[in-house]
Amino acid sequence: MEAQPIISLKEAIEERRAARSFRPDPIPEEVLSEILRLGVRAPSGYNLQPWRLIVVQEQENKEKLKACAFNQRQVSEAPVVLICCGDRLVSQPEYIESVIKLGEQAGAMNEAYAQFIREQVPVLFEYHPCFESVEAWTNRHTMIAVAHIMIAAKSFGVDSCPMEGFVTAQVKEAFKIPEHLDVCCLLPLGYADEPFKLYGGRFNIEQISYSETYGQNFTI
Ligand SMILES: Cc1cc2nc3c(=O)[nH]c(=O)nc-3n(C[C@H](O)[C@H](O)[C@H](O)COP(=O)(O)O)c2cc1C
Repeated sequence: MEAQPIISLKEAIEERRAARSFRPDPIPEEVLSEILRLGVRAPSGYNLQPWRLIVVQEQENKEKLKACAFNQRQVSEAPVVLICCGDRLVSQPEYIESVIKLGEQAGAMNEAYAQFIREQVPVLFEYHPCFESVEAWTNRHTMIAVAHIMIAAKSFGVDSCPMEGFVTAQVKEAFKIPEHLDVCCLLPLGYADEPFKLYGGRFNIEQISYSETYGQNFTI
C-alpha cells in the first residue's frame, strides 16, 4: 500500500531540520519508495533528469562513506544515506532519445518538440550560455531533487541532513562512481535523535529580495 504523509506541506517545510544524529530505526520500504518517487518529480531543464542516487544501507558501506565525510556521525547512524549525483552525459544523443521516448509514453511529446530537443540540448551543452560549467548545471538540477526529497521525507516523518562535507574523490573511488557523474550531496535519511541544533533563524524576505533591479528595496 502507498504510504501517506503524516503532516502537511507547511509543517514539513517548517519542521524540517538538518539532523546530526539518527536512531537506528529503519525506514519502511514503502515510505522510502514514496519519498524517492516524489523527490524525482522535481523539475529539470528539458526534463533531462540528471540526478542519479546511490542508496547506501549496508552498515559497512555507511562506515566507508563516513570516512569520506570527515567522520560525520550522521552518515553511519542514518538507516539510509543517498549519494546524490548529477550525470554529465545527459546531452548524449542516446540519452536524449530516452527522454523523448519517456515523453511519448506519457503522451507529452510530439515530433516537433522531439526534434527541437535533439537539436537544442547538444548546443546548450557545447556553448552553455546559461551555466559556467557542466558541474554547475548538474548541481543546479540535482539539488532541486534533493530539496524535494527532504521535504517529501519530512512529510512522512523522516528526517534528513543535506551534506557537502565530504571529499569528492574519495566518495567516487569508494563507490565506483564514474568520471561523468558529479557527486553533489550526501543525504542521510532516518529518524532523528534529539536534540537538534537550535534553529538558526532565517533572514527576512526584505533582507534577501530586491524590487525589479538588484539593490532596490522590496517590501511585502
Ligand atoms: C548544501 C548543504 C550542505 C550542507 N552540509 C552539511 C554538512 O556537511 N554537515 C552538516 O552537519 N550539515 C550540513 N548542512 C546543514 C546546514 O548546516 C543546515 O541546513 C543549516 O545550518 C540550517 O539548519 P536547518 O537545516 O536545521 O534549518 C548542509 C546544508 C546544505 C544545504
